[in-house]
Amino acid sequence: MPLRPPDGANPVASRREFLRFLVGSPLLRLGTGLAGGGLLGALADREASARDVLALDGDPAIGSSPIDDPGDAVNVFDFRALAEAKLPPGHWAFLSGGVEHEVTLRANRTGFERVQLRPRRLVDTRDVDTSLELLGAKLSSPIVLAPCGSQQAFHPDAELAVARAAKARDHLQILSMGSSTGLEDVVRARGAPIWAQLYAPRFWPATRMLVDGFEEAGCPVCVLTVDISGPNHNRDRLAHFRRGQNPACRSCHGRVDTAIAILAGAARAVGVDPVELVADGIDLDWAFVDRLRDATGMKLVVKGILTHEDAALCVEHGVDAIVVSNHGGRAEDVGLSTIEVLPEIADVVDGRVPILIDSGFRRGTDVFKALALGADAVCIGRPYLWGLASFGQAGVEAVLEILQRELVMTMKAMGTPALDSITRRHVRLAPAA
Ligand code: FNR
Repeated sequence: MPLRPPDGANPVASRREFLRFLVGSPLLRLGTGLAGGGLLGALADREASARDVLALDGDPAIGSSPIDDPGDAVNVFDFRALAEAKLPPGHWAFLSGGVEHEVTLRANRTGFERVQLRPRRLVDTRDVDTSLELLGAKLSSPIVLAPCGSQQAFHPDAELAVARAAKARDHLQILSMGSSTGLEDVVRARGAPIWAQLYAPRFWPATRMLVDGFEEAGCPVCVLTVDISGPNHNRDRLAHFRRGQNPACRSCHGRVDTAIAILAGAARAVGVDPVELVADGIDLDWAFVDRLRDATGMKLVVKGILTHEDAALCVEHGVDAIVVSNHGGRAEDVGLSTIEVLPEIADVVDGRVPILIDSGFRRGTDVFKALALGADAVCIGRPYLWGLASFGQAGVEAVLEILQRELVMTMKAMGTPALDSITRRHVRLAPAA
């Protein structure tokens, strides 16, 4: 018979307390075999790792099993475990952490639990079509690779491996301005246009130079990130790891062919302090958005919107699409998950521009929920970085394959054979606890 916690008790916490009691018990320490070092130790370890997982990004202990081959992964969390094991602790902290108390990081996962699915039965879903058109691009999936910087920290093939995986599985890639690989090389590896993400520097000519570079490389879309402007100092987990372990690994920190490095070189050449120029972002305002929009022939997307007020302003200022994002809990500890703010944003945007969303998406059902609540596409960040760290290109491909498969499975179960048949009627918002 299963052990039941007293009414109102948190079952995970109770189980943890129970295991802690057993492991600490002198009776068991006297015991042999199974009790002393075997099952209980293993259970306690599992509890500890479940606790870490829970602390890390709000996931209940879904569990993961060791894999040697990307094809053996059950879900994307199997890559997380492997990535953590493979990466130096400082790099893992950079990849996995959020800001301050990581409330937002956890909320990004728990927010999905408040959105429930309403499956419609007996609909013919033998053929499921996940294709869409987004800002002129024909995509076969609404799952997009979010811009994530410094990928040399996760695998030597870095952004090139991601581009090759995006090509092999036909997904849109957004390249970070902090890419550890040059834009042209990534475009070549992708073999199709990619979108370029911009952290706008303080100095307009520098912004201009970057944007011209994006255009010359054939990027049709510029994604302006507005939730981090300048270095953020509140990544506690990363700061603690750095204090204890900060190897000077030139293979990942010493590359010079990035947009940022090129920009810094150009700044020095004209006598501008590159540190001030590059590290210290401009205090962005709507006038800057107007200026940028008028200065480029690229479509302009604003990333980092969390309120309906700002979404309305984006539309007013002629932005071509928005990304609802809290930077995967890495910008400010706002405590708002993106899935929870999506409905108010979708209401005000009312289909006038496409909405992309990211932060915390780990399952096909998560993607489906966002599509039902008004998103046109969903970006993923950490999951593909876990795949990259685990197996390079093959790992990224496997992550994309799993998420796409899960999305198709969900669409079949929900009775929605195409993306435009997914509506708000397919979800229900559970009342807040
Ligand atoms: C990011 N993100 C990010 N965003 C951006 O606009 N420019 C950047 O250079 C980076 N760099 C970056 C590095 C790393 C290691 C991570 C994990 C994230 C944020 C990213 O685009 C996206 O918003 C989040 O990653 C989405 O959340 P999940 O999927 O990681 O939970």
